[in-house]
Amino acid sequence: MNQKRILLIIGGGIAAYKCLDLVRRLREQGVAVRAVMTRAAAEFITPLSVGTLTNDRVFTDLFDLNDEREIGHIRLSREADLVIVAPATADLLAKMAGGHADDLASTILMATDKPVLVAPAMNPRMWLHPATQRNVKQLQADGVHFVGPNVGEMAERDEAGPGRLAEVPEIIAAAKPLLPSDNIAQTVTHLRAERPLTGRHVLVTSGPTHEPIDPVRYIANRSSGKQGHAIAKAALALGARVTLVTGPVALPDPPGVDTVRVETARQMLGAVRHSLPADIAVFAAAVADWRSATTPGEKIKKTGDRPAIDLVENPDILATVTSLEAERPPLVIGFAAETRDVIGYAKKKLKAKRADWIAANDVSLETDVLGGDSNTVHLVTPGGTESWPQMTKDEVAQRLMLRAAEHLRRTTAAAE
Ligand code: C5P
Repeated sequence: MNQKRILLIIGGGIAAYKCLDLVRRLREQGVAVRAVMTRAAAEFITPLSVGTLTNDRVFTDLFDLNDEREIGHIRLSREADLVIVAPATADLLAKMAGGHADDLASTILMATDKPVLVAPAMNPRMWLHPATQRNVKQLQADGVHFVGPNVGEMAERDEAGPGRLAEVPEIIAAAKPLLPSDNIAQTVTHLRAERPLTGRHVLVTSGPTHEPIDPVRYIANRSSGKQGHAIAKAALALGARVTLVTGPVALPDPPGVDTVRVETARQMLGAVRHSLPADIAVFAAAVADWRSATTPGEKIKKTGDRPAIDLVENPDILATVTSLEAERPPLVIGFAAETRDVIGYAKKKLKAKRADWIAANDVSLETDVLGGDSNTVHLVTPGGTESWPQMTKDEVAQRLMLRAAEHLRRTTAAAE
C-alpha cells in the first residue's frame, strides 16, 4: 500500500499552532504531510517549526517563483491524496468560495482535483456572519468537506461561541474516510464525488429528548447526538437537502443543514411532521419513552415523602411516520440501541415499527458507544442482516447514506 499523502494548507490565526500537533499525529499514523503556509500563517507559527515536523520543505509565497520552476502549484496540489485547510479563516473561505487564486494557497485550492477538508477557526461573529455562512454553503455545494468549528471559549477574553478549530483527533477522524486507504475507501470517495443524493430531502432526528418533571428537572438519557448529526452531515455531503430535528445536545448545528432544536418528544414529532415530505427519514434520536403525566408550574419541594412521578408513554415518532399514508418517506431507517440480543430485538422492531431498515447497535456500557466516537452496527433489512465492522460514527453515517442513496436509485429506476 502506497504511503498516503496530505497537503496541509495552514491559514493565519491563533489556532495555527494546533497544526503542529496535527502534523505530528498524522505522521505518527504513517501519513506524509507537506505544508503550505499563507502569509498570515507565518505571523503565528514559523515555517521552520512546521518544516521540522513535516520533514519536508514548507511552501510559502516567499518561495513562489523558485517553486513554480521546481515543482509548480499544479503538481503540489495533485501529488497529495487529500488537501486539508486548517485553520481556515473567514478570508480563506471567502477566497475559496469566490474562486480567487491570488496566492499560493488559493491557487492550489483552485487547481486541485483531490478531496478538500476544511477546518474553520475564527471569531464566532465572523463565523456567524451571513457572508461566511453563505460561503460555507457554497463550498459545501461544491463538494468541500468541513470539520468543526467547535463551540467554546475563544482566544479573545470574554468571547465564546462557534469558531474554535476542531480538535486534532476530530480533524484526523474526518480526514480518514477521505483518504484512499483501500479499494472500499476509493469507491466511497468516488461515489461521494457523484453526490448521489442531489435533489433528495433527508430528514434526520438526533440526540435525546428532555421531558420536564417540573420547571427545573427533567428525564433524559445519555445520547450525545453524534451519530444523528454525523448522518445529517453525510447526507449533506452527498448532495441532499437535509433537515435535522435534534433534542438538546452539546454539538453545534452542522453548517448547511436546516436544524430544528426541540426539547421534548412531542415537540420532536411536531417538527418532524412539519418537515415532511422527505425521501429518506433516519430516526437516530433516543426519544424518551415516557414523560411525566403532569408538569407543575412550581418546583417540587422536598417534604420528606417520596414523591411519585406518574409516567405516561410518549408518541413513537418513527411508528407515527411509517403509518402515514401519502407522506410516508420511501425509505425509513430506525436505530435500535440495545444492551443484549441486539439483532433479535432489531428484527422485532423492524416489523413492529414498519421501518424499512434498522441500524442496530450494542450500547452496553463496556462498548462506550453512548457519547463515544465509534459504533458497531448491524444493518437489519427485510432481506437479511449485515454486520459492519467497528467504525467511527462518521464512517457509519457515510456508509449508511451511500447505501440509502443506492437503494433510492434502484427503487426509482425500477419504478420508471
Ligand atoms: O426506543 P426504541 O428502541 O424503540 O427506538 C427504536 C427507534 O424508534 C429509533 O429509531 C428511535 O429514534 C425511534 N423512536 C421514535 N420515537 C419514540 C421512540 C423511539 O422515533 N418515542
